[in-house]
Amino acid sequence: MELVRSTNLSALLVLLSCFCLQFGSATDTITAAKFINDSETIISKGGDFKLGFFSPPNSTDRYVGIWYAEISVFTVVWVANRNNPLKNSSGILTISEVGNLVVLDGQQKVLWSSNLTNSVVNSSAQLLDSGNLVLQGNTTGTFLWESFQHPSDTFMENMKISTDVRTGKKVQLTSWKSPSDPSIGNFSAGIEVRNIPEIFIWNDSNTYWRSGPWNSKIFIGVPDMVSVYLDGFNLVPDNDGTFYLSFSFSNESFPTKFVLNAQGNLQQTYFDTGDDHWGIGWSALNSDCDVYGKCGAFGSCNSQNSPICSCIPGFEPKNREEWNRGNWTSGCVRRRPLQCERVNNGSDGGKKDGFLKLTMMKVPDLADWSSALEEKCRNQCLENCSCIAYAYDSGIGCMPWTRSLIDLQKFSSGGVDLYVRLAYSELDKKGNVKVIVTVTVIVGVICIGICIYLLWRCMANQKEKRKMRMLLFDTGEAYKKFSGEDNLEDNVNQVKLQELPLFNLQELASATNNFHQSNKLGQGGFGPVYRGKLSSGQEIAIKRLSRVSRQGQEEFMNEVVVISKLQHWNLVKLLGCCVEGEEKMLVYEYMPNKSLDAFLFDSIKPKLLDWRRRFNIIEGVSRGLLYLHRDSRLKIIHRDLKASNILLDEELNPKISDFGLARIFGGNEDQANTKRVVGTYGYMSPEYAMEGRFSEKSDVFSFGVLLLEIVSGRRNSSFYDDEQDMSLLGFAWKMWNADNIVALTDPIIREPCFEMEILRCIRVGLLCVQEFAKDRPSVSIVISMLKSEIIDLPLPKQPAFTERHIAPNAGSCQPNLSTSKYSVNNVTVTMVQGR
Ligand SMILES: *[C@@H]1O[C@H](CO)[C@@H](O)[C@H](O)[C@H]1NC(C)=O
Ligand SMILES: *[C@@H]1O[C@H](CO)[C@@H](O)[C@H](O)[C@H]1NC(C)=O
Ligand SMILES: *[C@@H]1O[C@H](CO)[C@@H](O)[C@H](O)[C@H]1NC(C)=O
Ligand SMILES: *[C@@H]1O[C@H](CO)[C@@H](O)[C@H](O)[C@H]1NC(C)=O
Ligand SMILES: *[C@@H]1O[C@H](CO)[C@@H](O)[C@H](O)[C@H]1NC(C)=O
Ligand SMILES: *[C@@H]1O[C@H](CO)[C@@H](O)[C@H](O)[C@H]1NC(C)=O
Ligand SMILES: *[C@@H]1O[C@H](CO)[C@@H](O)[C@H](O)[C@H]1NC(C)=O
Ligand SMILES: *[C@@H]1O[C@H](CO)[C@@H](O)[C@H](O)[C@H]1NC(C)=O
Ligand SMILES: *[C@@H]1O[C@H](CO)[C@@H](O)[C@H](O)[C@H]1NC(C)=O
Ligand SMILES: *[C@@H]1O[C@H](CO)[C@@H](O)[C@H](O)[C@H]1NC(C)=O
Ligand SMILES: *[C@@H]1O[C@H](CO)[C@@H](O)[C@H](O)[C@H]1NC(C)=O
Ligand SMILES: *[C@@H]1O[C@H](CO)[C@@H](O)[C@H](O)[C@H]1NC(C)=O
Repeated sequence: MELVRSTNLSALLVLLSCFCLQFGSATDTITAAKFINDSETIISKGGDFKLGFFSPPNSTDRYVGIWYAEISVFTVVWVANRNNPLKNSSGILTISEVGNLVVLDGQQKVLWSSNLTNSVVNSSAQLLDSGNLVLQGNTTGTFLWESFQHPSDTFMENMKISTDVRTGKKVQLTSWKSPSDPSIGNFSAGIEVRNIPEIFIWNDSNTYWRSGPWNSKIFIGVPDMVSVYLDGFNLVPDNDGTFYLSFSFSNESFPTKFVLNAQGNLQQTYFDTGDDHWGIGWSALNSDCDVYGKCGAFGSCNSQNSPICSCIPGFEPKNREEWNRGNWTSGCVRRRPLQCERVNNGSDGGKKDGFLKLTMMKVPDLADWSSALEEKCRNQCLENCSCIAYAYDSGIGCMPWTRSLIDLQKFSSGGVDLYVRLAYSELDKKGNVKVIVTVTVIVGVICIGICIYLLWRCMANQKEKRKMRMLLFDTGEAYKKFSGEDNLEDNVNQVKLQELPLFNLQELASATNNFHQSNKLGQGGFGPVYRGKLSSGQEIAIKRLSRVSRQGQEEFMNEVVVISKLQHWNLVKLLGCCVEGEEKMLVYEYMPNKSLDAFLFDSIKPKLLDWRRRFNIIEGVSRGLLYLHRDSRLKIIHRDLKASNILLDEELNPKISDFGLARIFGGNEDQANTKRVVGTYGYMSPEYAMEGRFSEKSDVFSFGVLLLEIVSGRRNSSFYDDEQDMSLLGFAWKMWNADNIVALTDPIIREPCFEMEILRCIRVGLLCVQEFAKDRPSVSIVISMLKSEIIDLPLPKQPAFTERHIAPNAGSCQPNLSTSKYSVNNVTVTMVQGR
């Protein structure tokens, strides 16, 4: 659709240059004197957008609209006279006598108007580089009207979708009727705030799709939202109770927008200049399951299943015949009444109700909200008979449900855990089945295990001999043969191989140029780390575990598979592993920004870490830690949390690394004592360093030290040879008592507007490093404190290590550990206590 013919274009250019010479640039503006007719356009200052008349494909009607000026595919982002098209080319766009922007037809009839309430003299309309068309009076800077406040079907960068909770006023997208008819269609999309904000798409006034609640990072009902978050989505309320949704993209070489199409699907599209077409990045609706309430009340949708709908456990179809026919609208009903209901009916209720956990769910619509923490959330729900389900998200808080559960979906990744209230008998029965199944499986596994073990023993000797023989030949050749003939072992490991990619040694050796020194990223506590590039081009980081682990191959693989299942936005992702002969290696995603200590304690880079970023890092680390401690299935205590174990991605988001290694290295006792102490001086809590007793609270201690380091920009160890024998903790404590805590903060971030928040952080940090483990808060409380959900913080007691040296030089340290043997490498200390 080429609207400006080339001759016109060159005429326009001549005209434009004249204007430029005479009046500066004036071609982005419309006034009463300088209106435009059907064959003219105006263009924004930077040349990004054009405003003019156009016809949609397969239509002769004329509309006034805005489109991309620099993109070769004609793409309209806004239409003025959507419902009143011009029938011929005699229309004009101008400013009316009372100051309105108007579209007039050949007989001066108003087809569309900006409908200002008050009249203005000499107003003018300007097309900005953001694509916003604004109407201004004689005071510049304030807009009387703007097209961004009256969007069509397109949501662009710098634009805001909004909902005023008090007045109900919405700025929302409305679909076109069809690709050749821009008039207002049946679908609209905007923010809905019941208790928690969400994005909705409506078909007329019926809900058609919902995003799930916003947890201040993502919409939890959108499984692949993490990548969208990367592109800078934000939903924030202002003080007047208006919620604003916006997005921003870091990469300007791909113009990106969201469009609500005529079929009611909200899609993210980006322009690929290489291919000259709009690609689809993300869609709200990808399967039938995404349609609101597809499976009715208490039904759950899973697009991987056939049929897609099923009742949640403890419920059965309300109308079985219709249900089996694939008409799921009537939903499901409870099989056995709850104890509450029975008690209310006069009979003795019997055993108490319980909760069934459903994992990776899109939570149902119509959640209530409370600020209770997870434990309390559960109890509140259990005690209130009208509460039939609850879920907890650390970014939102407690979500109880009292109405029918509608629009449930089971995801294959992402989502949250939903706890549904069921009668005791339902849970019990399920338990019994579970026990029987579990026992059968265990017995079976043991039998198979014994058989395999015997077989393996039998083969092992032969194999050893074969290996020796082959190593006499060319080693590369031997590797190939060896792994090729190693079928038995392959079979044993096959189940696990499917779960976690195994890399072979050669592949990793060539990725790192034979573990060349120049590819070495650093020396971690458990061995050196190398940077590598796979033949596919993917960048990886390889941790080559030192050979201190006494675990067998099987055990090692088991651990790695378990740890690879821990996935969280604030944990470094484990991509796979390699086990060959003596070598054991872990392959991680590569983090271009290296670790936090490289940023924080550098001489130049700390400037990149302003307070917002630092707070984001503190929050991220606490969330990752909470996941390890509580939300993952394993309950992992990190035991070596420190600045060099926090890696930063491109956007400086923190990712905890080296988690779970303490388990691999033989310290996975559940009780609070270990023979092997793994950790780093300065970050180790007193009870752990001295007695080997560890708990979640020892990680909290390390977190506290890390927090103080981030705020102060100084290493805990940087103090030990000045300040009279004082550690960072000692210094912080001294400043706290002297009421001069500002002295602790990094000068780079000292800004009055952040002072309260920074002080709060330091106080939380001091609470975390208290001498006695029982005094320290748990990570979930720390998070609530940081987010100001807990307003009154307790007074910190004296931290541990205020007076001692705590960061000895490698090898020369002598903390009071007379009963311990220890070895020191330059980063992490591993001590084996003689018992
Ligand atoms: C639009 O205005 C331009 C310049 O004023 C004029 O040359 C052209 O003929 C007009 N076109 C129509 C359709 O009126
Ligand atoms: C326009 O009409 C042609 C022929 O009827 C059809 O193939 C095409 O899809 C239509 N385009 C649009 C955007 O409706
Ligand atoms: C354009 O249409 C209007 C009515 O909508 C009519 O009055 C006018 O004469 C038409 N102009 C031309 C050039 O056909
Ligand atoms: C302006 O007001 C008129 C009359 O109230 C209404 O028909 C029209 O839809 C309004 N236009 C816009 C763009 O709101
Ligand atoms: C325009 O500006 C003048 C002074 O600069 C002011 O007195 C007048 O009220 C303004 N008019 C409007 C409509 O804003
Ligand atoms: C409006 O603009 C005209 C011409 O530029 C000027 O003569 C007149 O004084 C302006 N009116 C006001 C109120 O600024
Ligand atoms: C819009 O809804 C109306 C009734 O609500 C229906 O008649 C019409 O077909 C719908 N249009 C589309 C494009 O779905
Ligand atoms: C939208 O609603 C109308 C009537 O309410 C219905 O006929 C139509 O199928 C719905 N559209 C979609 C895509 O579900
Ligand atoms: C934008 O994306 C292109 C292609 O993926 C990439 O080459 C370029 O470096 C990116 N630019 C930024 C600023 O991220
Ligand atoms: C689906 O079931 C409901 C209630 O059982 C019924 O009212 C409706 O007509 C059924 N729809 C279809 C398409 O059979
Ligand atoms: C409670 O008692 C009433 C009347 O006795 C009965 O209709 C209802 O089904 C009972 N409810 C439950 C949950 O047992
Ligand atoms: C139970 O929950 C409902 C809805 O949240 C609330 O209105 C009611 O007051 C609660 N009852 C008790 C005893 O807490």
